[in-house]
Amino acid sequence: MTHQVALPAYYNDLDASFAEAWNVVEAGVTDRKSPAHTPTIGTVDADGTPQLRIMILREVSRDRRSLRFHTDARSDKIAQLQQGAATSVLVYDAAAKAQIRLSGCAHIAADGDVADTAWSGSTPFARRCYMAEAAPGTPIAQPSSGLPEWIEGKQPEEDQLADYRGNFAALMFHADSMEWLYLANAGHRRARWHWDQTQNLWLGNWLVP
Ligand SMILES: Cc1cc2nc3c(=O)[nH]c(=O)nc-3n(C[C@H](O)[C@H](O)[C@H](O)COP(=O)(O)O)c2cc1C
Repeated sequence: MTHQVALPAYYNDLDASFAEAWNVVEAGVTDRKSPAHTPTIGTVDADGTPQLRIMILREVSRDRRSLRFHTDARSDKIAQLQQGAATSVLVYDAAAKAQIRLSGCAHIAADGDVADTAWSGSTPFARRCYMAEAAPGTPIAQPSSGLPEWIEGKQPEEDQLADYRGNFAALMFHADSMEWLYLANAGHRRARWHWDQTQNLWLGNWLVP
């Protein structure tokens, strides 16, 4: 006996699968429980080693093909992102039965409106991370949060945060390819789209899963 599970409307529809892939990614901004809220971001270090880390997804623009993240301007990933270096973003949403692989490039916005707005739009508690005295990844003799002792366990006031704005940066990712893998007993579905710069549109096709 075959076990029939209702297939979604986008199952055999390339355009609708593309829209659904973005829906899954976008959910990560508003829904903290969505797996897309904590995607894996991949960069390549100077040795050519892939470096992966989880980052909180802050904003998605389907039109601009962009994703915004926040980070410490002193962190190791910054050096890996000079000159809009190759970057990938990975999401696996088990409930949506979907893996989404975005590839493109990213750059660091440390100054300017994007970073200023991102900074002032973050909660004081979230911004406390940027009060760390030494750069993230600095070796230390004793276990520590890296924060100044006076702010440990406390929420900083707005004026206490002002001095630390320089440690904060937005990481802007721009996608030029998106790959979709939808898992189904009836048969998986896989597709990939790439941004065609000449025509200014996404071109996609189905792939063997
Ligand atoms: C749930 C979770 C959320 C995280 N969110 C962020 C984030 O939004 N930005 C960030 O820079 N690091 C975040 N991190 C820490 C990174 O995964 C990573 O450890 C750190 O940024 C140092 O990475 P780097 O040495 O490659 O720069 C998060 C880690 C976890 C587990």
